Amino acid sequence: MSNMKQEILKLLKSDQFISGQEMADRLKVSRTAVWKNINALKTEGYSIESVTRKGYHLREHPRYISPTALEVLVESSPLFSHMEYLETTESTQIEAFQKLENKDGAYIVVALEQTKGRGRFSRQWSSPKNRGLYLSIVLRPNIPITEIIRFNLFISLALSRTLDAAFGVQSGIKWPNDIYINNRKVSGFLTEVVSESNVISAIICGIGINIFKDESVSALGTATDIESEIEPDRAIDLDDFMRKLIHNIEVYYDRFINEPFSSIREEWKSRAIVFNKDLKITETGESYMAKALDIDQDGFLEVLDEAGEIRRVVSADIEL
Ligand code: BTN
Repeated sequence: MSNMKQEILKLLKSDQFISGQEMADRLKVSRTAVWKNINALKTEGYSIESVTRKGYHLREHPRYISPTALEVLVESSPLFSHMEYLETTESTQIEAFQKLENKDGAYIVVALEQTKGRGRFSRQWSSPKNRGLYLSIVLRPNIPITEIIRFNLFISLALSRTLDAAFGVQSGIKWPNDIYINNRKVSGFLTEVVSESNVISAIICGIGINIFKDESVSALGTATDIESEIEPDRAIDLDDFMRKLIHNIEVYYDRFINEPFSSIREEWKSRAIVFNKDLKITETGESYMAKALDIDQDGFLEVLDEAGEIRRVVSADIEL
């Protein structure tokens, strides 16, 4: 998005109504330039109305991320060097994997719709058009494969904090990869790796967030979406959400590379929703009931099973 378009968008967001003349004065450009950029924003999906003697007013945000806004975010990112924006795809994970050979550095793949979105344990991830955010981030650390547990903890914190800050909700983390609001899942992520001799050369982390109400998601009974959880008069600004998400991923990825889990452990625990509940845990084909006791320094979940034995869980499917 051109700088001027972004500046105009900022002014529209900061005021109920603002005249073309005022925007022109503030940005030190002609009124024609303002008008042209307003029209360009409208074609990108921003619903901008003009009212005589009052000026312009941003009625609604688009129900999808603007490709140009995302480009600007990536251009100024200290972590990501490029992005791919797709109207539709089978899965952003597949796209991200396919690009590994020809692209260096860290990058993001975003799609408005996925026809074969997938979740953990080969489950399907419902990804209807313009109803959710579907993205994969590719990172290239050079670290032992065992560190991936820690990665999930840092990313879950980044994601949960972003949802709260952007939408004014109170989300919680269901260890290891799910984000819940009011006991229902709103987001999940899937971490896949490419490794050689137990050293990770690429992490492909796919994040799915239910944003707008959709039958295929509510039919699951255990899921929710941001639209259902947010205060009724609060706007859903996806560009703002993406800006905050990318920023938090940069911050928490940097911390993941440089800090131990103990530096975020207390904050992570304050957001965890697995404690003081009966959990059904399934790991490597075995299911058992247990209560979570703690999360240890390495990010393993310590649970007490029904036989009174303490177990350290590395990766599992957990039902609340
Ligand atoms: C889960 O909760 O099981 C993880 C869901 C991950 C879904 C995202 S959507 C973007 C990326 N592409 C996919 O096919 N899956 C992930």
